[in-house]
Amino acid sequence: MNRETNTVELKAPEQPSSKLHLPTLLKSDYETDTEVSYTVVADEGQTSFREGPLTETYGYNGSYLGPVLQVRRGQQVHINLQNKLEEETTFHWHGLKIPSDVDGGPHHAIEAEGSAEVDFTVDQEAATLWFHSHAHQKSAEQVYNGLSGLIFVEDEHSDSLDLPKEYGVNDFPLILQERFFDEDNQFNYDTVYNFDGTTGDTPLVNGTIRPYIEVGQEWVRLRVVNGSNARNYQLRLSDESFFYQIATDGGFLETPVERKEFLLSPGERAEIVVDMSKYKVGEEVSLVDISTTEILALQITGDKSGSLKPLPEKLNDLPPVEADSLPDRQIEMSGMGHMVTLNGRKFDLERIDFTVEQDKKEVWDIAVPNTSMMMGDMPHPFHVHGVQFRILSRNGSPPEAYESGWKDTILVPPGEAIKIEIEFSQPGIFMMHCHILEHEDNGMMGQILVE
Ligand code: C2O
Ligand code: CU
Ligand code: CU
Repeated sequence: MNRETNTVELKAPEQPSSKLHLPTLLKSDYETDTEVSYTVVADEGQTSFREGPLTETYGYNGSYLGPVLQVRRGQQVHINLQNKLEEETTFHWHGLKIPSDVDGGPHHAIEAEGSAEVDFTVDQEAATLWFHSHAHQKSAEQVYNGLSGLIFVEDEHSDSLDLPKEYGVNDFPLILQERFFDEDNQFNYDTVYNFDGTTGDTPLVNGTIRPYIEVGQEWVRLRVVNGSNARNYQLRLSDESFFYQIATDGGFLETPVERKEFLLSPGERAEIVVDMSKYKVGEEVSLVDISTTEILALQITGDKSGSLKPLPEKLNDLPPVEADSLPDRQIEMSGMGHMVTLNGRKFDLERIDFTVEQDKKEVWDIAVPNTSMMMGDMPHPFHVHGVQFRILSRNGSPPEAYESGWKDTILVPPGEAIKIEIEFSQPGIFMMHCHILEHEDNGMMGQILVE
């Protein structure tokens, strides 16, 4: 698929490798079987990414990025939000099926030094989700500076699956990003800003440059999140081994899908499991971007005797998709630079773009017109708030097994016709937008009223 948004090549950083930073599992303020409460604080900080001066950054409960919020299906979640920044921000829960008044979109600004509380019930299956700033016309800069974190949803079904789940041992989240560092080690967003998505030349995983992890000779699960403002990552193992994809954005696939490489556009997630038992202790294999830039080194250190257990054959029961007998709606993302639009219009906080019925399936045709180079054709990752959808077809063909699960973000290449089946279970006003965050800030976004 098309990767032409990535104008800046990644380069392998010239510095020694360091152990991958593991986001902390956020300690709850209180927790029972049915309830959990967290405090999430957005603040400024200084982060040591590499030798030399510290970098001025933003973070949640820390100087850069954020912790993992663990929630369970059925649980009532209470989150105390604090904004210690000198500007307004929002806390958006990307992928959670929750009512729009707690979704943290651009309507929910919390002023500098302000705070707010949100309450919702988790009503969806186990998945790796994330959260980030969605401040009006400031999302791209605030996310670039560090405002993103993770949400792990677990449920009885995921408890019962025999998959790697020892955090930091055989289960690792990987937030992929890249940044430019200036001579003083600063991000300096204004100077590297790009209308079509600010990128960088230095890959970071969880904020670590040249990261490695130590693993045993066992299945290792990687929960990969594309947390970049604009870059598409196309990932494979350095020795071109196969691995299995087990989950998409919103939950497990039906069965593990054997893959050799996978593409993630901004906002998308994929979980993969890698068989490390075929390597010897002392060996190393890397996850690389297709440009062969190393993203993460896996060093085999622990000896695990005995043979590897097979993966579960069945991971999930996905409801069948209904195909074509449903109301149809067209969504078109077009333009580049300042000229980006969604269905021919720029975002307006005061305008509802269309209304859909709650608990009613619809088919959406999503497209990026193939016009001329003058108009600018580029792939756009399309994301919808408050919902998980399914892909019905790409150019008339059913989706590949690896994208037949729950999705909330999908890369739409120019000229390709994509149909999705979508059903909102929550009422309110939800955003749909390009997840190239600069496009979103520049107006490639619309609002859906669900009632
Ligand atoms: Cu990941 Cu509107 O967001
Ligand atoms: Cu979102
Ligand atoms: Cu876009």
